[in-house]
Amino acid sequence: MMGALRIAQNERGWLKPEIIEYVADYLEMPAIAAYEVATFYNMYDTQPVGRHKITLCTNLPCMLMGAGELGEHLKEKLGIGFGQTTEDGRYTLKEGECMGACGDAPMCLHNNHVMHTHLTSEKVDELLDKLK
Ligand code: FES
Repeated sequence: MMGALRIAQNERGWLKPEIIEYVADYLEMPAIAAYEVATFYNMYDTQPVGRHKITLCTNLPCMLMGAGELGEHLKEKLGIGFGQTTEDGRYTLKEGECMGACGDAPMCLHNNHVMHTHLTSEKVDELLDKLK
């Protein structure tokens, strides 16, 4: 289920209800089972997202290493809050759960695939510049 939803999201950009139901139907599972997975894990997007989704880990180890300040920095730079997308559709900012890289905190994930660790405000600015 998870792999099928991931593939569907990669191909379609986000998981609209028809896609979630299609995946469930294809796997011969009840639609509610697919909805449960798609809405439980935050790597799945059940709303449209920007071209660059930045998921900042805000669990305790990352917060102790400055993720709170980085979150405020990102919000100010992008002019959006967590769970929002910039008007030009370029960036979406999300809060994430621990991604198992606590030793390299604070960290974020770009489009569910590329991890950026030991973040500072300067590194966040460099990342945003690269993603333009
Ligand atoms: S708490 Fe952020 S990666 Fe574990």
